[in-house]
This record gives sequence, C-alpha cells and structure tokens, in this order.
Amino acid sequence: MEKKKHLTTNQGVPVTDNQNSLTVGERGPVLLQDVQFVEKMAHFDRERIPERVVHAKGAGAHGFFQVYKSMAPYTKAKFLQDPKEKTPVFVRFSTVTGGRGSADTVRDPRGFAVKFYTEEGNYDLVGNNLPVFFIRDAIKFPDMVHAFKGAPDNNIPSASSAHNRFWDFISLTPESTHMIIWLFTDRGTPKSFRMMEGFGVNTYVWVNSEGKRVYVKYHWKPKLGVHSLDRHEATRLAGVDPDYLTRDLWNTIASGGEVEYELCVQLMEIEDELKQVFDPLDPTKTWPEDKFPLMVVGKMVLNRNPNNFFAEVEQAAFCPASIIPGIEFSADKLLQGRTFSYADTQRHRLGPNYLQLPINRPIVEVNNNQRDGAMQLGEFSGPVNYEPSSLAGGSPVEAPAGTPYVYRVEGEVTRKKISKTKDFQQAGEKYRSLSKMNQEHLIDNLITDLMQIDKPIQQRVIENLTKADPELGKSVAEGLKL
Ligand code: HEM
Repeated sequence: MEKKKHLTTNQGVPVTDNQNSLTVGERGPVLLQDVQFVEKMAHFDRERIPERVVHAKGAGAHGFFQVYKSMAPYTKAKFLQDPKEKTPVFVRFSTVTGGRGSADTVRDPRGFAVKFYTEEGNYDLVGNNLPVFFIRDAIKFPDMVHAFKGAPDNNIPSASSAHNRFWDFISLTPESTHMIIWLFTDRGTPKSFRMMEGFGVNTYVWVNSEGKRVYVKYHWKPKLGVHSLDRHEATRLAGVDPDYLTRDLWNTIASGGEVEYELCVQLMEIEDELKQVFDPLDPTKTWPEDKFPLMVVGKMVLNRNPNNFFAEVEQAAFCPASIIPGIEFSADKLLQGRTFSYADTQRHRLGPNYLQLPINRPIVEVNNNQRDGAMQLGEFSGPVNYEPSSLAGGSPVEAPAGTPYVYRVEGEVTRKKISKTKDFQQAGEKYRSLSKMNQEHLIDNLITDLMQIDKPIQQRVIENLTKADPELGKSVAEGLKL
C-alpha cells in the first residue's frame, strides 16, 4: 500500500490538526499566532486571479500536431517541415463574451487557440470558430467589448447578444454585418468543440528559406464535420447543463477518445493583394475558396486532459504576437493591435514572468538578460545581466541570422479607414450561399434576438441587413412587424 503523505504548511512544517483553530480555551477567541490558520486563509483569500477580459470561460486539452508534407516551398518554420515530427500542442476553446462562470451554449463566437511548443520557440495560432470578425481596426475593440458585455450600471447581461447595447454598437458598425450573418446561423451555437471549424481570421505571412513571402490564412477542419445546436436546444442546455461543451471535451478524452482537426491554409501572392475586389488584409472578409483553394497542411490530435484546470487552462496565455522564424504579421490593422494587447493583459493577469509558468514555458532553453520581477523563478548566477559582454565567456550571444531579406513599406501617416470597405457584399453572398433551412434558422435567430431591442436600433440593423440582401432584410423586418 502507498505510504500516506503528511499534511504540511507551505513552509513544510508538519500539520497535526487541520480541523481546529488555535484558541484560548475550547470556545475561543482565536489567536492571531495561529500561523497555520493565517497561512491557509490568506492563500484562500487570493485564489482568484483576474479573469480574461474576453474569452473568460474555456476548456483545454493537450495533444500534438504533425504535417502531412513539408511546407518548405512556403515557410521555413521548422515544425512545418518534417512529416515524421510531432510537435506538442495545448489548445484552449472558449466563449467570448460571458464571464468565467457563464453557460457554454450561448450565441457567441468560440475561441480556438493553439499553442505549438516548437523547437524554435512557442508559436500561438489564436483563432475563432468563425472566419471573419466584427471590426477591422483594433482601436474599436475596447468599445466593442464594452458594448457586448454587462452594462456599467447593472452588469446585465452576463452572456447574451439579445440586448440594446450589443445591437446599438452593431447597427452603427456596418463592417460587422458579415460577422453577424455567420454568428446568427447555428454556427453561433456549436454542438461540440470537436465539431467546429477554427480560423486564424487575420492574414499572416509565411516566409521560406529564400526570403520569399506569401500571405496565408489558416483553417482548422474538424474530423467529425461541423455540427451545431439549434436555438431551442442551445437555450435548453444553457439551463440544464451550462458546462455542456466543456464536459463533452473532457469526457471524450477521459474515456480514451481523440479529438482531431486538419490544418489547411489559403495562400495569396503578395503581388496579388491589390488586384482583388476586396481588401485581402481586411478581417471582415474571407478569401473565396475557388480562387484561393484550401491546401491541407497536417493534423492535430488532442488526447490528454489537463491535470489541473487552474495551472494549465486558467494560466494559459496565448498571444498572436508569439511567432517563430518563417511566420510573420501582415499589415492587417486588427492583427497589429492584437500583437500588443494579449501580452499586455497577460502581464496584468498573470504577472511579468508569466512565460515561466509550466503551461506557457517553451520546450527550448530561454537565454536572455531579463531578470527579477514578481515571481521570478529563474535561478541565475554570476555578474552578467547585459549584452554585449566579454565577461562570463560572452554568453549568451546573438543567434546566427537566417537569409537576410527586406521589404518596403511606405505611405502617409494618417488615421483613415481602408478604401475598399465593401461592408455588405460578402455578407450578402454568405446569406445567399446558405441552404433554405440555414437561411430560415438565421432569420429566426435574428428575429428572436432583435425582438427584445428598441425600435430605432432594430431599424438600423434592418437597413444593414437589407444592404447585404434585400430578401434577408425584408424577412427580418416582417418578423419584427416593422
Ligand atoms: C483587435 C482585436 C482583438 C483584440 C484587441 C483582442 C484582445 C484579446 C484579449 C485582451 C484577450 C484576453 C487574453 C488573456 O487574458 O489571456 C483575448 C483572448 C482571445 N482572443 Fe482576442 N482580441 C481581438 C480579436 C480577436 C480575433 C480576431 C480572434 C480570432 C481570430 C481572437 C481570438 C481570441 C481567443 C481565442 C482568445 C482566448 C485565448 C485563450 O484561450 O486564452 N481575438 N483577445
């Protein structure tokens, strides 16, 4: 039989009584010198950290990624070269708007964040289950999230789009129309994290070993296909099992199952960027798949549940700025803003040394001269914490550079929106591409939400929907008796 371990304090001192506090006589009062009590209670009092400002509710799993064939013609990223190599991954799925305790099946985009622990450092692909986004400039993100989340006076609602503030912002943000059409199909209520697609949404750049650059958009395809809940089932489940999607993922893996997705990419030559009728770097747009076909890259298998939710899921920190050689940012303004926001919030949420936490730590050695800061775990020695240095053998030194390459960026300094906005064209195309049943569900989902909204806001939403597709606008207006 396994020998039982003894309870101790955090200082390692044996605890002989964990039931009774130290008192004067058996009826109290309690003594402040009960250091065992003080330590236990003080730790408990600090057990919550700030929840994520968005994507607060989530579930995670470990697994691996493997390419089917080398991507060397397009990117030098090492983990995308060798079909025999398995790269460990950690994935976190999430809802966006609700707080940490909110229901899994509310209408919302779902986060699909993947951390690849590669031999060249960590690469994060921080995506969603819908291919476009509400806005195209990061400067609008705080307003958007304020409008979606609880009102500043009464904190209502905690997780739902059926409220004036959401639709007020949306109706005044015409570029959100495309996203709204995706979100209000049943894809806004996925049946399982195992049955939803993932999209990088933003445009990135792949660079090969010759320095050739190409634009890239990412797609995850679930092996089980895409399946959604209808509005009625999603609403019922939010009541009877608010953790429905979390439980589904956990139980699948706990019972020995595997969860599999294929990674596909769309590539676009940089020279073709300005030849498109839409702006390819605009995250409110998709790239038509007939012109930019999906290329299958590899597969991801999730096969291990976390051991500890807080350590692995709550403390996981994903960031679109975590890139590796062979992958770069495009000039997409939303992406550029994201590259600042994530690590900034994580320094606040988890502290300046958050990348030392086991779930965030790269599998390769980290060598630099950053020292100190709250919760520093490194055990450094010696006098050298600067570079260049001749002391300590001059180590660490700069790594050898890859093939040097340059690209030009020029233009006026300005605050202007892009000229090819085309806010409604792809929105209308998306609506018309839906099956009859999916069109009906979209209209029904929109009406149910909008029914609860003030008339002038309803009117503005109808105007935007009508610009996308007159029949869609008319059907929703009729449903609302406008
Ligand atoms: C300007 C636009 C955006 C900004 C400023 C932004 C900012 C943030 C912030 C601050 C967090 C919380 C991070 C944390 O506390 O760890 C977050 C989480 C997240 N965001 Fe964004 N976001 C933006 C757009 C997007 C887009 C377009 C996507 C999808 C492609 C996305 C996907 C996610 C995901 C999946 C998470 C959760 C990561 C996790 O599981 O920990 N975000 N975002």
